[in-house]
Amino acid sequence: MCGIVAYLGEKEAQPLLLDGLRRLEYRGYDSSGIATLDHGVLKIAKKKGHVQALATHLSSTPIGGKIGISHTRWATHGAASDANAHPHTDQSGRLAIVHNGVVENYLALKHRLTALGHTFKSETDTEILAHLIGHYYDACNEPDRLLKAVRAALREVSGTYGIAVLHQDHPGLLVGARRGSPLLIGIAKDGHFFTSDVMAIGGHAGQVIELKDGDIATITADTHAVTTIDGGDADFIVKQVEASEAISELGSFPHYMLKEVFDQPQALRDAFRGRLDREASTVKLGGLRMTSEELRRIERIVIVGCGTARHSGLVGEYLIETLANLPVEVEYASEFRYRNTPMDPRTLVFAVSQSGETLDTLGALREAQRKGYRALGICNRVGSTMPRESDGGVYMHAGPEIGVAATKSFTSQVMIFTLIALLLGRMRYLSAAQGQELIDGIEALPGLVEKLLAQNDAIKKVAEKYHKVRSMIFLGRLHHVPVAMEGALKMKEITYINAEGYPAAELKHGIIALIDEETPTVLICPKDSVYDKNASTLQEIKARKGPVIAVATEGDTQIGTLADDVLYIPDAPEILQPILASIPLQLFAYHCAVLLGRDVDKPRNLAKSVTVE
Ligand code: M6R
Repeated sequence: MCGIVAYLGEKEAQPLLLDGLRRLEYRGYDSSGIATLDHGVLKIAKKKGHVQALATHLSSTPIGGKIGISHTRWATHGAASDANAHPHTDQSGRLAIVHNGVVENYLALKHRLTALGHTFKSETDTEILAHLIGHYYDACNEPDRLLKAVRAALREVSGTYGIAVLHQDHPGLLVGARRGSPLLIGIAKDGHFFTSDVMAIGGHAGQVIELKDGDIATITADTHAVTTIDGGDADFIVKQVEASEAISELGSFPHYMLKEVFDQPQALRDAFRGRLDREASTVKLGGLRMTSEELRRIERIVIVGCGTARHSGLVGEYLIETLANLPVEVEYASEFRYRNTPMDPRTLVFAVSQSGETLDTLGALREAQRKGYRALGICNRVGSTMPRESDGGVYMHAGPEIGVAATKSFTSQVMIFTLIALLLGRMRYLSAAQGQELIDGIEALPGLVEKLLAQNDAIKKVAEKYHKVRSMIFLGRLHHVPVAMEGALKMKEITYINAEGYPAAELKHGIIALIDEETPTVLICPKDSVYDKNASTLQEIKARKGPVIAVATEGDTQIGTLADDVLYIPDAPEILQPILASIPLQLFAYHCAVLLGRDVDKPRNLAKSVTVE
């Protein structure tokens, strides 16, 4: 949520910052801005809207300088406007800051600063922080006064931040700090960067230092130093930038979402590569950092996540209960962190997150650890906060996901849960033959997904028929309930069509009142153990003249005669069907959104990685 890039070195800052902002735009796109020291003078340019608006402005009014900070914003305090865009300055106008996160006590700080004569130009919490740092800067005369001022101000802040600070009187220095919002130092041949996401500096910086919560860092063109906000020493590790962390190329695809839908066969292969143990008919997941004995002692599992990640956890619940006969609870991470969920010592917690940075999920993970539970991560972004803070976990290896709508991360998460369920199952009830069968099914899945993707044009035709409706209902049973919820989430977030997903049998308990000729129902009804029940649901909808789009198994002629339209998926073992059933729903939502002229990769009001509460 929001993105930061800052640079100091031998090159002109503006092009590097703009390039970084473009790569980070998926994290927030309400407004963007940059500040540099142009011939020693602080210059700022900021614009409401996408980074392109800033780029257009800068093409006619460039700002020079080899030091600068920049930001792309997802609004928290104050509407999206030029005035609220970052960077913000202090009272002197000589200090500028970019900030990700939320200063929770900003009102109290504002009152204090106002009483001291400070005046403000924006509605943001960030501007208060700029003034607070400026206040301490003015009160200090020591040579390292900028670092000291940032430290002093941050000690008074409650809330979260990743920041980069620039001062006109320190043309060779940038200060950065983090708490609850990621910040990295990038080390390049020609200078240093601060960034909230390594993707912004891929190709420019070869090495990174991931700052930890409570760290404060200074960079010059050729040095970097890290200490703690409390004034202590800080450990840090210099890591090489992995090729997988570099920018994701769109290639010939018109949108990242479509590219990422088509990435799924490979993402699934990467999720299980090297993890299937045919000889023992099980799975190897070394990252869990748990012995077989410890895994066998687990009596209950709690899964926490948000949005799509939570939906994958709901599929995981079904998989683990079915294959390992272990009770599983799936919690909204945002609720879990504040609730007093009863747990017992033999509970294992999984925090699921593509980004590894979602603050609600991170908070839930920390809360579980605080209570003494082992908390593992299922994450995609290598080196993000959750994998670092968890007691172990499983990387998804899905590659960068840029489209705000999660697609390949969902199917990869479900694949990881399938592996976990198989591992736990083989330690309990599953026979070797059942394990082998599942492994065969897992290995066949990417090929089935490739086959399914070949129906893209057919799915587009169905979207042409329905994209103008005002609302849709998504229904499924058992493991397809979360797929229905995920299908509805995809539809509403990128098309803005009202869509909700429910267990199919719930229809008659209230939802059926919504059925009419204008309201299509997407019914997930492949050949499985509840096929006949779903066929009855379909009849109930048709009896009330509701249009039905069925997600059915290839070759199912019966459904074709009952439903108005059918999205076909290849046949597969029941337990593996959720991965297949979710993909036509991704494509259906995608085509509806394109036909409606929506900004598919950057839907309104959203951001890819939600690092505020
Ligand atoms: O990065 P995370 O997986 O933790 O993100 C959690 C949700 O914000 C995310 O899944 C969101 O619901 C999706 N972008 C929806 O498509």
